[in-house]
Amino acid sequence: MAVKAYDLSGRTAFVTGAASGIGRACAVLLAEAGATVHAADRDARGLEDTAALAGRESVRVHPLDVTDRTQLRRALASCGRLDVLAAVAGIMHSSPVLETRDEDLDRVWAVNFKGVLYACQEAAGLMIGQGSGGSIVTMASGAVDTGGAGLLCYGVAKAAVVQLTKTLATEVGPHGIRVNAVAPGWVRTPMTDRSDPAAQARVESSMTRLAPLGRVGEPEDVAHAVLYLASDASAFVTGQILRPNGGVAMPW
Ligand code: NAI
Repeated sequence: MAVKAYDLSGRTAFVTGAASGIGRACAVLLAEAGATVHAADRDARGLEDTAALAGRESVRVHPLDVTDRTQLRRALASCGRLDVLAAVAGIMHSSPVLETRDEDLDRVWAVNFKGVLYACQEAAGLMIGQGSGGSIVTMASGAVDTGGAGLLCYGVAKAAVVQLTKTLATEVGPHGIRVNAVAPGWVRTPMTDRSDPAAQARVESSMTRLAPLGRVGEPEDVAHAVLYLASDASAFVTGQILRPNGGVAMPW
């Protein structure tokens, strides 16, 4: 690694949501930076593709559901040691407030908040036990900065992830464990590809016109932010929200 502070050789990283989009880009980049990567997702086939992309020798796959704490605990315990958690798994849901049902809220909350909470609790417990610090990176969203029509369930869960990040950072800082969130703007991934084509066109056109950098994000843009927060390059950074968004909050 050209710059030593970014070198993850000898470190072990656990990445959730690693079968697709941003999580896959994180798994591949962390492996490229020298880490042994444990890639977790409910999509077993997608995990195999990620492992193939990253070079199989540096990646182990864990098909699991992040809403199941026991599965997460077992997978994390099997890593041997743990230096980095990137809790990326998440789902999108869009519905107007007046049409939002209890079951929508429960489903999004279970994956986008509880799934992150469980991973953070289990990982922080292991890191404290090891006594050698660590870095936890959560995945929030630009939705926490804007109202975002339709984004009640999604935004509530992501705002809770921000709160979790700050609270946990305060509590585990004395153990040398850093906790930071990444809050990306619109990033082209299978998640955004599945969204309503009219919304996609609107956001892409707004980003091109309004974002200082004039484009939407790519998964690698977010993975580089995660690598920074995972590595010693950010050794004095904790409880922060890093916003790779081309210079604007999500403009819709
Ligand atoms: P994606 O849909 O491409 O990838 C999400 C991954 O999470 C998938 O592989 C999926 O199988 C996995 N996953 C979902 N529920 C799971 C569960 N219960 N257990 C295990 N794995 C599960 O989505 P993308 O775009 O890569 O999103 C990744 C994260 O980034 C999400 O948390 C998302 O909310 C966040 N994000 C994405 C933005 C974007 O514009 N794409 C913007 C801001 C945040």
